[in-house]
Amino acid sequence: MIVPQLFWVSEPAMQLFPLAGVLSSTALGQSSGVDCPYIVQGTVFMLIKKAADIASSEITPKSLYLNRRTFLAGTALAGAAALAGVGLRNLLSPATAVEAKAAINGLQKSSFSTSEKVTPYKDVTNYNNYYEFSTDKYEPAGLAKDFKTTPWKVTIDGLVSEKQVLDVDAILKMAAPEERIYRHRCVEGWSIVVPWVGFSLSELIKRAQPLGKAKFVEFTTLYDPKQMPGQRVPVLEWPYVEGLRLDEAMHPLALLCFGMYRETLPNQDGAPLRIVVPWKYGFKSAKAIVRIRFTDSQPVNTWNKSAPNEYGFYSNVNPNVDHPRWSQGKERRLGEFTKRPTLMFNGYDQVASLYSGMDLKKNF
Ligand code: MTE
Repeated sequence: MIVPQLFWVSEPAMQLFPLAGVLSSTALGQSSGVDCPYIVQGTVFMLIKKAADIASSEITPKSLYLNRRTFLAGTALAGAAALAGVGLRNLLSPATAVEAKAAINGLQKSSFSTSEKVTPYKDVTNYNNYYEFSTDKYEPAGLAKDFKTTPWKVTIDGLVSEKQVLDVDAILKMAAPEERIYRHRCVEGWSIVVPWVGFSLSELIKRAQPLGKAKFVEFTTLYDPKQMPGQRVPVLEWPYVEGLRLDEAMHPLALLCFGMYRETLPNQDGAPLRIVVPWKYGFKSAKAIVRIRFTDSQPVNTWNKSAPNEYGFYSNVNPNVDHPRWSQGKERRLGEFTKRPTLMFNGYDQVASLYSGMDLKKNF
């Protein structure tokens, strides 16, 4: 039996609850989703607060911005851990859910890496959007602890010369692993800087040998409600699907990712295989990929399906195109108090030519 839950949805969380917005503005006859008293969505009840009622502590958790000293201490701890050769996870409080991961050796440096300050490991691995596990950002770390990532097969099919079903280990061996320190910007208005590990997605695409008529690539992620409790609730249509235009996917910045902080990916961050598309909002970076399909028509991505007027196919980070209910002009880096301006393409200007001649307001 699914027990009804009662929880607040703050303004940024509403961005990840487009269905709530749709229901609030249609079923309840209101123009905006943020001020309705409550919504009945199947067995899930959500209370939506007015923007003015929302303490900023609900948007960015207290621990992430009120107590900067803790963060500075955390950074010092990381430094001390590095010096002592001890993994940071060993020094964290028992309440912080982290898992032992395997080190990835032989990492190549990348000229795509930013020199900006890397966000602490404990924040990146304990503040996650992973709806297959939970809509609460603090829960995936714990709920995904026993998630099984071996064996893991990935099907490569659609418009390719030959369908392949590959073990993830075979994919990992396709190219030398690189460390890519990228900015990651969520549509909710927060951002992080992460030292991902992987190699260009183009390495896999070349080996997949897409046919000439393939114009898009679709990523389907795991559907396994037994292991993924969030999939037992219809907050999204499962499995989670994302997609890219083939030339976007071939851009060297698009990363096929299997690690972070020089170790294999923690489950809550998308183990064993995800993509990272740093010039797009975070929801384009699908986790736990099991199928890569080449097509001649534009894939319908999950968030676009839930609320087409709010989440486009392209979803390039764009400070000039606001979400229907929220500005995208600024963002809060986790661990920082003040907001910083959001940059076009998240600062990755080298992708601009992919969109020349396109109206990015229409193709949001
Ligand atoms: N992939 C799957 N399969 N399920 C998800 O819920 N959330 C997306 C993206 N990929 C999501 C997903 C969103 S909204 C964001 S911001 C990023 O993952 C978050 O990645 P992180 O938790 O590693 O920071």
